[in-house]
Amino acid sequence: MGDLIESMRRRTSIRAYSDRPVEQGVKESIRALLEAHGRGPFGNAVRLGLVDLTQMEQAEARSLGTYGFISGARLYVAAVVRDAPGAMPDVGYCLEQVVVKLTHLGLGTCWLGGTFKRASFAEKLSLSGDEVIPAITPVGYARDSRPARERVMRRFVGADQRKPWETLFFDGSMDRPLRREAVGEYAVALDCLRLAPSASNMQPWRIIKAGDAATFHFLLKRSPGYGRLLKAADLQLVDMGIAMCHFELAARESGLDGAWSANGPCPAGAEHVISWKGR
Ligand SMILES: Cc1cc2nc3c(=O)[nH]c(=O)nc-3n(C[C@H](O)[C@H](O)[C@H](O)COP(=O)(O)O)c2cc1C
Repeated sequence: MGDLIESMRRRTSIRAYSDRPVEQGVKESIRALLEAHGRGPFGNAVRLGLVDLTQMEQAEARSLGTYGFISGARLYVAAVVRDAPGAMPDVGYCLEQVVVKLTHLGLGTCWLGGTFKRASFAEKLSLSGDEVIPAITPVGYARDSRPARERVMRRFVGADQRKPWETLFFDGSMDRPLRREAVGEYAVALDCLRLAPSASNMQPWRIIKAGDAATFHFLLKRSPGYGRLLKAADLQLVDMGIAMCHFELAARESGLDGAWSANGPCPAGAEHVISWKGR
């Protein structure tokens, strides 16, 4: 199994971090990753900033909080983007590239789209007028065991469950579930997509495989009542970018080539976001 496929299988959200500091050399690897993933498939520039609380006064570090949802983390990566078409999936795609590679380095992460003090991070990262911070993640070494509070929270959102294949993946149209045998080598890419993190674990992605071709249409099925809760971010579109990242990383690591294309169908009740055309 390839390294990144293994990392995608292993990753879970980490909310409690150990005291072990992230070493200087590892911080440099993180910085290199942030620089390498600055543009998404929709062409938006995504600025990934590293916020290091160890270099701050205590009061300032406290202001960059997460309302108690995250404990012990002293490093954060924040995604900054200009609000433009495709900006949200590009944020999902770019930051998840980093998350998967950090997992490979043995570091823990946790996507945060809601539970962080957005205004304080915005100030720290000197945002210009039309920039937003759709999401951030803490980065650090996981504590040995999950505290009870985190376990309760995971149970609440059903964090360990994923929807079954047949309700996520379709063959030609959304009334025909996709059989695993019908996708050949793409089965691993779809497995990895299914393991992607999503806001409140809603898994809003639906994939339609087109006919006999290695073409996969990525559709967003919005969760009722989950619309644009936050002005700063359309989190379900961020989820789509994360799913694109998992699918593409796994496909490429399986030796499958292809490219993203803007054209695709839009069945009732779902929004077409992008399509993968295998070569
Ligand atoms: C875009 C996005 C936003 C999220 N926002 C939060 C958040 O504000 N607070 C939080 O505790 N977890 C947040 N999560 C983490 C999800 O709850 C978590 O990914 C999901 O429950 C699946 O669990 P897993 O990541 O351990 O597989 C977010 C995840 C995503 C992808």
